[in-house]
Amino acid sequence: MPSNTSAHHLPNVSAGLDVLIDEATLQARIAELGKQIERDYAGKPLVLVGVLKGSLPFMADLARRIDLPLHMDFLGLSSYGDKTESSGVVRITSDLSKPIEGKDVVVVEDIVDTGLTMSFLLQNLATRKPASVRICTLLHKPARSKVQVPLDYVGFTIEDKFVVGYGLDYAEKLRNVPFVGVVRNP
Ligand code: IMP
Ligand code: MG
Repeated sequence: MPSNTSAHHLPNVSAGLDVLIDEATLQARIAELGKQIERDYAGKPLVLVGVLKGSLPFMADLARRIDLPLHMDFLGLSSYGDKTESSGVVRITSDLSKPIEGKDVVVVEDIVDTGLTMSFLLQNLATRKPASVRICTLLHKPARSKVQVPLDYVGFTIEDKFVVGYGLDYAEKLRNVPFVGVVRNP
């Protein structure tokens, strides 16, 4: 059976997509990132801050690969309408549930594209006096970078393609596709 017709690939929602990064490759890399974070934060008050909604599957899988007594919190950011181009305008749509003063924060993001969203978030978090802030992004698209942001943990560097699945949406759809894919050209 071809791999993208297996039950795990949700043939309904995956129709019309080409697989860019399959589930096994995602999980293997996420395990590595988790071990790296585990080594770097042993003995520290680690808070994973997931950026909603795109980081949801990544956050869930990453956290379960970090064998430390961490906390998880979430923050909703919106930088896009239903468009595929960054508007450059970033809004906090829902804030953290607790202060992060004195904590070691790792921001968990689905993708860094222009960098505008992470640049805004880093400035915003700095005002809350955390002990440290690092970024962990599943994907990085360096071709479209507009501002430099330090990326401490990067899952995969990808070319300039619009990707969907594993949390990433197109007009709020396709987040539940279990792999990272691209819309197939007709
Ligand atoms: P940036 O501010 O341009 O770096 O954009 C970051 C945000 O844009 C990400 O958190 C995503 O929500 C969205 N985004 C950027 N590229 C893609 C993509 O290829 N597919 C889906 N969403 C994307
Ligand atoms: Mg996002």
